Amino acid sequence: MNEKQLVGEKAAEFVKDGMVVGLGTGSTVYYTLKKLGRLVKEGLSIQGIPTSVQTEKLAKEFGIPLANFGEIEQIDVAIDGADEVDPNLNLTKGGGGALLREKIIANAAKQFIVVADSSKLVEKLGTFLLPVEVVPFGFSMTERYIRELGCSLEIRLKEGKPFVTDNGNYIFDCNFPDIPYPETLERKLNSIPGVVENGLFVGMTDMLVTLDENKNVMTKSC
Ligand code: 5RP
Repeated sequence: MNEKQLVGEKAAEFVKDGMVVGLGTGSTVYYTLKKLGRLVKEGLSIQGIPTSVQTEKLAKEFGIPLANFGEIEQIDVAIDGADEVDPNLNLTKGGGGALLREKIIANAAKQFIVVADSSKLVEKLGTFLLPVEVVPFGFSMTERYIRELGCSLEIRLKEGKPFVTDNGNYIFDCNFPDIPYPETLERKLNSIPGVVENGLFVGMTDMLVTLDENKNVMTKSC
């Protein structure tokens, strides 16, 4: 079993009968979804809220019942992957382009569980390019203001055209040489008109499921 499968499947153990579950996006949480699908077939009763169109499709394929986000009262637990995890369990996310819905759902969940193989663990955030989602209107102007915060950046492309998120927006992948204060940068980015959200998830993680140096699955909580 590879690392992603080990941590992805482990996280499914924290989902209990009757829960409303935020379903993350990516190749690690894929294994959580697959395991949840198997547990549902065995009788587990849950409702899922997907963080992306891609995850919605997978949840349907695996037989996970979906709830209408507009109608539910609370999300009991959200499980999602990450691109970087620092020692304080702050994250960089959005490699798959689903950061906005992921952050809305993580924020709404009573418990936010992150699944990450050992390659995602870093001493300091900033090696992975930070995704920033912006509205297409005036995006060149928005780009200028983001650049003024001290980064170089590229618009994310797909087949030679701007990548469009599930929300109809663009993404800038930003190269900040260093992110010593993620909370401050998160706030500064989101105060720029035109920026919808950025991939810094600061102080949101309740539990990390990862592997220790002997490659045993372990959890770490804040
Ligand atoms: C998508 C994300 C993913 O959770 C993140 O990119 C990790 O993905 P993977 O598990 O495939 O490495 O933030 O927007």
